[in-house]
Amino acid sequence: MTHNITIHTPEEIEAMRRIGRQASELLDFITPYVKAGVTTKYLDDLMDEYTIKHLGAVSACKGYQPEGMTPYPCSTCISVNHVICHGIPSEKKVLKKGDIVNIDITITKDGFFGDNSRMFIVGKPTIAGKRIVDAAFGCMWAGIEAVKPGNCFNDIGIACQNFCAPLGVSIVHEYGGHGIGRVFHGEPHVCHVPIKTPTATFEPGMIFTVEPMVNAGKRHILDLADGWTVVTKDKSLSAQWELEVLVTETGYDILTVSKDSPEPPEWVKGWKKPSFD
Ligand code: MF3
Ligand code: CO
Ligand code: CO
Repeated sequence: MTHNITIHTPEEIEAMRRIGRQASELLDFITPYVKAGVTTKYLDDLMDEYTIKHLGAVSACKGYQPEGMTPYPCSTCISVNHVICHGIPSEKKVLKKGDIVNIDITITKDGFFGDNSRMFIVGKPTIAGKRIVDAAFGCMWAGIEAVKPGNCFNDIGIACQNFCAPLGVSIVHEYGGHGIGRVFHGEPHVCHVPIKTPTATFEPGMIFTVEPMVNAGKRHILDLADGWTVVTKDKSLSAQWELEVLVTETGYDILTVSKDSPEPPEWVKGWKKPSFD
């Protein structure tokens, strides 16, 4: 199948490794601050300062305005509990014990973009919170493991669906992963559920995100009046992890990796986290 997906040069891939590692380091940095009693705006301010002063980069989210949307007002997205994605940091949103928190950051430097997100649990995890956070993590990795020569993008959606179905959790249909490189959101749109239209076959040099949003209840979403925040229609918990994947000759590599980024599940065969000593 013909496609418009960028095949990155070795130089571009090195630049994407650098910005990807920095995007992951930003999440390493914020980890110890995700505690009960802090506001999500406080976390956003800390990350904005770290991005500029320590990474020499800027947020790609601040002022980001896809067609038909209002400009995104903050540097990061922080989505708590039943918020699926695009939670706007606020002075009024105070984290409390047991909350599950997605922090999604995209930074840019020298014309390249780095995008990743992780889940955090505030204080002692609840059983329901840990369950959905772990389900979303496994779902993301199941999708990533489908990236191999001969497979196509639809195999990601099939793998995500096969992982989630037996757990009784659901995958959001309205949002997907995306190509990334010299653009924030490029082709292809990566569906985390199977689709019927043909999808491109993986080719070395493609770079895209895998970032399934997984709900404890039903998959349906509700858009809030602030123009950005997306919540579960049934108010059930929702979780999401995001990594950037590079297609290689033999399989895949992860570009958003750093010293404190989590190890993959033990059943992952295609990738080992490098050491950062
Ligand atoms: N980082 C998100 C993604 O994974 C996009 C956030 S756009 C924003 O694609 F404007 F809400 F920040
Ligand atoms: Co993101
Ligand atoms: Co993304």
